[in-house]
Amino acid sequence: MTLDTLLRRIKQNCEPFQGQFPTVGDGTRYRLTVNDNWLAGFWPGLLWLTYAHTRDQAFAVCAQSYLASFRQRLDDRVHITHDLGFLYTLSARAQWQLTGNEEARALALRAADELSQRYRPNGRYIQAWGAVGDPEQGGRAIIDTMMNLALLYWATDQTGSPRYAEIATAHADTTAQYLVREDGGSYHTFFFDQETGEPIGPQTHQGYADDSLWARGQSWVIFGFVVAAAWTGNGRYTQTAYQAAERFMAELPENKLPLWDLRLPPGAPHYPDTSASAIAAAGMLRLAGQLEGAAREQVRQHAGTLLNALNACCLETDPAAQGLLRGGTYHAHKQLGVDEYFICGDYYYLEALLMQAGHCPDFWGKPTA
Ligand code: GLY
Repeated sequence: MTLDTLLRRIKQNCEPFQGQFPTVGDGTRYRLTVNDNWLAGFWPGLLWLTYAHTRDQAFAVCAQSYLASFRQRLDDRVHITHDLGFLYTLSARAQWQLTGNEEARALALRAADELSQRYRPNGRYIQAWGAVGDPEQGGRAIIDTMMNLALLYWATDQTGSPRYAEIATAHADTTAQYLVREDGGSYHTFFFDQETGEPIGPQTHQGYADDSLWARGQSWVIFGFVVAAAWTGNGRYTQTAYQAAERFMAELPENKLPLWDLRLPPGAPHYPDTSASAIAAAGMLRLAGQLEGAAREQVRQHAGTLLNALNACCLETDPAAQGLLRGGTYHAHKQLGVDEYFICGDYYYLEALLMQAGHCPDFWGKPTA
């Protein structure tokens, strides 16, 4: 199966998905939603990746038809969380980057502004969920937010206002201090006293246990710190990403396919999560570019190992299917999208394959075509 086959499948999905957003799989099809959840950016993101690779206008036409729904979402304040970064980086920023559309740029900047308002200066973190200051969620920082910092760094690059990047860097430093462990592993979420900013302690949400290792969270560490390093030039972030990558590889089962948590006891449900290794592979390919010598080669090999395992086991070969990658798990505890397609996994899988092919636009770092 070639990259071209996957790109054709994405084109084939444009019509059935029209105006809606794929989230998790249901057999060989995707469940479609309106623009009201954290996953909505990944489908336009896949379309923009494909457009950048093929320059086939059909992908751009399909992708840009989604911009209005992202404007509406901000207007109506639909489910506004830290995920503004995921959402607007892969929709509005990607559109601006590839087409120069000023309306898309303005929308992405508006989203960055909204995201910056979730910063909690006392604890120096971006509040993940709930309304700012919410009694239950106000003190919570989560590992996934590392992925949302790209929008803030980009906003500083675009506007010249240092505030966005300062917030991103403060959040990255707090994450490195409290959510990344000594051994390079990570906690999914961590609470602070939201009045004093004092650290309270970790609490998982999607992992098996507070002290286990949620697989996708570990991938967010790798990718997120590489992006922060690319924007800031801070070698400590590269080191954090490198240690996280080594930890990820060390905890994998022999077949190199992650389960939803990398530290599951024997009695726990052993669901796969291919999205975790797709994200990790894409992050490692970026990380290799920040390393030198043996470490660079080693990380590149890790990425190859992960992608080979994914290609062999989980690449969807049914020509009528809608997904690219089988075996994702969105939320094991809630039984949402367990061992199904997962649009987030599909996105990073294609990013990694395009990076391996040597032609991938960078929607997370400094703009490249
Ligand atoms: N950012 C939510 C997740 O990774 O499931």
